[in-house]
Amino acid sequence: MVFFSNPLNQYLSHKSEIDFAISNVLKRGKYILGEETKNFEIEFAKFIDAKFAVGVANGTDAINIALVACGVGYGDEVITVSHTAVATISAIEISGAVPVFVDIDPDFFTLNPQKIVQAITKKTKAIVIVHIYGQAADLAPILEIAAEYNLRVIEDCAQAHGATYQNRKVGNWGDISCFSFYPTKNLGAIGDGGAVVTNNKELADKCLLLRQYGWKERYVSKIKGWNSRLDEIQSAVLRVKLRYLESDNKKRNKLALLYFEHLQNIEKIGLPKTRESCSHVFHLFVIRIKERSQLIEFLKKKGIDTLIHYPFPVHLQEAYINNNNPVNLKETESAAMEVLSLPMYPELSESEVIKVSKDIIHFYES
Ligand SMILES: Cc1ncc(COP(=O)(O)O)c(C=O)c1O
Repeated sequence: MVFFSNPLNQYLSHKSEIDFAISNVLKRGKYILGEETKNFEIEFAKFIDAKFAVGVANGTDAINIALVACGVGYGDEVITVSHTAVATISAIEISGAVPVFVDIDPDFFTLNPQKIVQAITKKTKAIVIVHIYGQAADLAPILEIAAEYNLRVIEDCAQAHGATYQNRKVGNWGDISCFSFYPTKNLGAIGDGGAVVTNNKELADKCLLLRQYGWKERYVSKIKGWNSRLDEIQSAVLRVKLRYLESDNKKRNKLALLYFEHLQNIEKIGLPKTRESCSHVFHLFVIRIKERSQLIEFLKKKGIDTLIHYPFPVHLQEAYINNNNPVNLKETESAAMEVLSLPMYPELSESEVIKVSKDIIHFYES
């Protein structure tokens, strides 16, 4: 059996360090907002090369908190993509703002900068940029437009821990950025977790308030907030795993190269492209094919798990469809019909990648 992802294996490969870190938290007896979270925030900000990180309960909350901290709320519009986890959109909706979808660039599956200006209205307040699959969106032109129209820029880095654009890490480009530590992410906790990262002290301070009832001190709320804390056990585990993030990302790249090597001659497969001046961290290895359902079935019979990110664009889902104002997102809709994610995680073996590749070749040759 080749699993699609395998958080258990990741735990097992750092078991003694993780067990030690968890047992220290248990013995210390401070389980919420203690030294592990404080230290993780310092270490994660340093990893991104940014000034501040604030741990929160999950990636969806990170986006919501970032939007609220930026002053985005009822009546505002937020430009983003529909080719993303539904979480990006639910976070915008929870803030009270309206998501306005623009199409993606079909080569890289990220927000197409050329589609932004026509989506801007008087109500537009922010752009949420999603760095999908492990690669940065085309930040430079997007930031230029945002500066021209005075829009806030929020980066959704849930799939791109450690990826770079022009040698600078994603999460260090916009006003504020958001990370998820869902267990299968490049940096994954053993439960839910998330963080916002920023170089702006005012925004960081606001996020600190928002994540805990708006408290400026215990029981005294300065602003309206809620509970979105990252707990000590998650922080302790994340501190261990953060030490391996660069080497894990290298392993992902090595496995991606192996997929490239084996699959490059199959014309019917569109392999992932890496944007010039970007480094990819292959959160997902996504191929593009026409005969997707047949290949999924074929691989399933061979004991190989695959997933689709994402089969239904958010703007077409029952919860988010706007029949009064349908949008035309040609590239998004065509990608949703053709993308297929192959197994990819640092503990995946080279022989498993070769097996998956050979079975795919077999599918196309039979
Ligand atoms: C692009 C993107 N944004 C946001 C999220 C939300 O993260 P979480 O599941 O931690 O709320 C995810 C996670 O699935 C994601 O992939």
